Amino acid sequence: MNILAINSSVSGDASVSRALVAEAVQHLLEANPDAALTYRDLGDDPIAHLTSATVSGVRAVAETPEEFGTKALSDELIEELRAADILVIGAPMYNFSIPTSLRAWFDHVLRPRVTFAYGAEGPEGLLPGKRALVIEPRGGLYSEGPNAVIDFQEPYLKQLLGFIGITDVTFVRAERLGYGDEARAAALEIARSQIADVAPRIAGTARP
Ligand SMILES: Cc1cc2nc3c(=O)[nH]c(=O)nc-3n(C[C@H](O)[C@H](O)[C@H](O)COP(=O)(O)O)c2cc1C
Repeated sequence: MNILAINSSVSGDASVSRALVAEAVQHLLEANPDAALTYRDLGDDPIAHLTSATVSGVRAVAETPEEFGTKALSDELIEELRAADILVIGAPMYNFSIPTSLRAWFDHVLRPRVTFAYGAEGPEGLLPGKRALVIEPRGGLYSEGPNAVIDFQEPYLKQLLGFIGITDVTFVRAERLGYGDEARAAALEIARSQIADVAPRIAGTARP
């Protein structure tokens, strides 16, 4: 059993998602003590965004040293992902969507003919059989009410993961973090209890 944990917050030790990802990993390791953990911190150690000098390393055929460098990084990130049975992603809402560091990670792992392919039926994800837990802290409220239509975070993540075949995705939201101490404490408590509830199913140790 391999767990890949990814953080993308830029808030360091103050990050809500980083704390909740750590808690989720702890639950998963308790359920599966022999599991191996791989950790990527995209907030502290970001992946370069694709540029005109590097994009062919991911989307076409590498020819230049820069393109080969990007291809090597894409290969490494995809191998980490391919090896994972369980993915835990800390994906805070930044400007109604995901942090750019996480978007750069997706730009390196959504790779034609490697993690997705187009066939007669349309696009096919090539990384099936994985489970993902995505932690989504947000300053505001988007799961209900007028802001639901401007949630470009959760539908987007669902699409990005589903596109490469990762369709068993559980989202845990911590919402209204910016609405004062009481709302923040309540949101964290709900998120923690949801993580504790879903971890055994994601770890594959839940009782039927
Ligand atoms: C650059 C930036 C953009 C943000 N944009 C939004 C936003 O669009 N909507 C929202 O509800 N909260 C927004 N927030 C608040 C974060 O979602 C909230 O602080 C959350 O705790 C961040 O997760 P983290 O603590 O793991 O970094 C933003 C925070 C940052 C730093």
